[in-house]
Amino acid sequence: MNNLKDKKLDLPQEWPGALHYDEQEVEAVTRVVRAQSPFRFYGLDHQREVEQLEKEFAEYIGIKYCLGVSHGTAALQVALAAMGVGPGDEVLLPGYFWVSTVSAVVRSGAIPVLVDVDRSFNMDPEDMESKITKRTKAAIMVPMGGVIGQIVKVAEICKANNILLLEDCAQSSGASQFGKMAGSFGDMAIFSFQINKNITAGEGGAIVTNSEDLYKKAFSAHDLGYTKDAEGNWDTENKEYQFWGIGCRMSEITAAIVRVQLKKIGLITSSMRNFKHDLIEIISEYKGISSRHVADPAGDSGGFLKMIFENKEMSVKFKNGLIENGIKVRQGGFYPVHMHDWGLHIYSNIPALVGKKSICGHHSVWELQENDFAKDYKYDKGTLPVLDSFVERTTLFCIASKLSDEQKALIKQAFSSTCNSLLEPK
Ligand SMILES: Cc1ncc(COP(=O)(O)O)c(C=O)c1O
Repeated sequence: MNNLKDKKLDLPQEWPGALHYDEQEVEAVTRVVRAQSPFRFYGLDHQREVEQLEKEFAEYIGIKYCLGVSHGTAALQVALAAMGVGPGDEVLLPGYFWVSTVSAVVRSGAIPVLVDVDRSFNMDPEDMESKITKRTKAAIMVPMGGVIGQIVKVAEICKANNILLLEDCAQSSGASQFGKMAGSFGDMAIFSFQINKNITAGEGGAIVTNSEDLYKKAFSAHDLGYTKDAEGNWDTENKEYQFWGIGCRMSEITAAIVRVQLKKIGLITSSMRNFKHDLIEIISEYKGISSRHVADPAGDSGGFLKMIFENKEMSVKFKNGLIENGIKVRQGGFYPVHMHDWGLHIYSNIPALVGKKSICGHHSVWELQENDFAKDYKYDKGTLPVLDSFVERTTLFCIASKLSDEQKALIKQAFSSTCNSLLEPK
């Protein structure tokens, strides 16, 4: 076997869905282009790709309604609008997310309330419960990297307190927990099909719900602010479903690609999950390193391995050790990253949140009269001590969805060498 140190392993970028593109995606795009019908509602030879994807995706998640949208960030804004979240409301969310999660809350005019995480890096139900007030309208669970946390407990707490639960499953297409799919636990869920996600069309998103009412509201908000009747005409009479629309419809080309990707989702996620488990097996033989808690490893969609150390120094040494042992960090790729450098995924790294910036240059949502209660809320480092501590002590390793046997063997070798040189065996 080659020595990885001498070789520098040139790993593929970790874009899970895109690595599995082949002639099927080409055929799907071509079908729509040949039909000269890229718009979801009509065309010269309308293929109804978005409609079909909505049916297929709803069935896959095991939920009644699905709405295709242009991207995940818009999906979050539409879902919050459908839930009636606005000024005067508080929304609970973890401090580990993507900036889009919190920006959707702020854009809705509501106040984000940060909740600490448990060992799965998801919202901690206990801390969440302690932060409920009479103004709490919604909670957002964010299963990052396809690991679902204590969602059943969170859903129970939400139900008991009349709080709407939104799942931000942008990173969790194909993840499940004891047989129940990510996106089927809350009142609504959103998905993203952007390039870093498990299945991708470059951009794209979906909203799912079992509630006809929430679906209709989301439909209205995602389009022009009105629902449509069975013939496809605007229903401008029904006051309940009148909104200001975002115009974030999914295109037929996006849907055609995502439909192909959906057929491959099992292959994509199992390849990441299986290799992640191989790496967990290696590190589990050493002291001073552990991986994030996953309640149901069979439902983990793979993607990222988080390795938690006793302190920052060790976490950084381990990351550097992997690089020294040959794992090449490609430009634009992430492979080993110390979590501290994980940018806009961490609340305290988001200047607009810490600085409570406005949406449009006038006064911010924290200065609205309805949000007067929140004028002293803080979002800087120290707000979430458990997450802060994990961020200091954790290194991430991104798992590509397509690796050759040789690449896998070389990565394992790098992990074993790094463990051997830095840690004691159990
Ligand atoms: C957790 C999370 N939420 C929301 C989004 C936003 O999705 P999109 O990039 O499709 O707008 C992303 C993706 O980057 C994400 O990771």
